[in-house]
Amino acid sequence: MSYERVQAEWFNRYPAISDLATRAQQRIPRVGWEYLSAGTGDDRLVQRNRQALDRLSFLPRFCKGELAADPKTELFGRTYEAPLGIAPVGLTGLMWPRTEQLLAATGKRLGIPYTLSTVATETPETVGPEVGEMGWFQLYPPKDPEIRDSVLKRAQDSGFHTLVVTADVPMASRRERTVRAGMTMPPKISPRMIWEGITHPAWTIGTLRNGLPRLRTVEHYTNNKNLKFVSTFVGNRMGGTLDWGYCEMLKEVWNGPVVLKGILHPADAAKAVSVGLDGVWVSNHGGRQFNGAPAAIEALPAIAQAIGGKVPVLFDSGIRSGLDVMRALHLGADFVFAGRPFVYGVCALGEYGGDHAARILIDDLKNNMVQLGVSNLEELRQAERFSPEQAF
Ligand SMILES: Cc1cc2nc3c(=O)[nH]c(=O)nc-3n(C[C@H](O)[C@H](O)[C@H](O)COP(=O)(O)O)c2cc1C
Repeated sequence: MSYERVQAEWFNRYPAISDLATRAQQRIPRVGWEYLSAGTGDDRLVQRNRQALDRLSFLPRFCKGELAADPKTELFGRTYEAPLGIAPVGLTGLMWPRTEQLLAATGKRLGIPYTLSTVATETPETVGPEVGEMGWFQLYPPKDPEIRDSVLKRAQDSGFHTLVVTADVPMASRRERTVRAGMTMPPKISPRMIWEGITHPAWTIGTLRNGLPRLRTVEHYTNNKNLKFVSTFVGNRMGGTLDWGYCEMLKEVWNGPVVLKGILHPADAAKAVSVGLDGVWVSNHGGRQFNGAPAAIEALPAIAQAIGGKVPVLFDSGIRSGLDVMRALHLGADFVFAGRPFVYGVCALGEYGGDHAARILIDDLKNNMVQLGVSNLEELRQAERFSPEQAF
């Protein structure tokens, strides 16, 4: 099978990311779904991301003759097929077996970046060959410099060229929905788990074939491979200490662009530039960390202004359509990422589900650019916004 053979049928049956989410929810056990889809607390920030994106409307212009939108984008000296990438998602094997390899292959086929998480369930060595030239690596900063250097060397030796260091997890957040769903570390075989296994046979067969999810990159540094032990190790040794000195150090260790992810304050963005980082990634972690934060899209314009074009501004959190991608680009992002939509794609449709998620987003981006009357990023930035307050 190839994606081209199923593309037309899938576009009829699953034309939007929400269709992939609905099918994903049916195909994976409740605990996996809750882990993937939840925000922190009562999901207020997830909703705020959505509402804030929806507030941005444009005033379309017509009679421009034939328009063809070209979304090809240069970033850090490389050309990508669209200003769209796959954001890092940890513990992915819990949602669907081999998600990392499948999404890496999507990135390679479509010419868009795939970001492997430090706490993915597969190693850089396994995923590197699948991702080709499209590999980015995300770091939860290890306290121990030897572990830091070793993780980075493994990623770089496996072909990952762009480093993303995550700033917005100063400690693990409260994820009440995941707790209610009965998520334990390590997963316990309970009557509920057995029932979930029976009622989600495709997930169960895949998981039995691949084994229960493990934090394979990190377990390399522990003698005990038990998931609970490795998770505690991650909590104690892999985060919570990021500071500007550490960021500067990363520039010395990593041979390539370094991007700081999870930034919401213009002063942090400016500081990232002044310590020599190569990009700033505006994000509120998809609403999973701090419910008191603004929607990421609300924080974007001030950050784009503070950066003033000195380095690229990347964006994620709440992107569910090409129109959303367009909104972020219009407000100053140079490149846009999505997390859950790609994992929904794999959970819903398997091997080529990530391709389909990307195609939905890129197709919708191109379509909406033409609806607005622009054919490239420059024109999109200049397009006029419509504000309902000015209407009457
Ligand atoms: C299940 C899940 C796991 C995540 N794991 C990581 C991670 O390991 N590292 C990281 O930097 N961000 C992680 N994120 C955040 C994503 O990289 C991204 O910022 C977020 O998903 C964007 O929001 P969206 O899902 O609405 O597109 C995770 C997000 C989800 C949904």
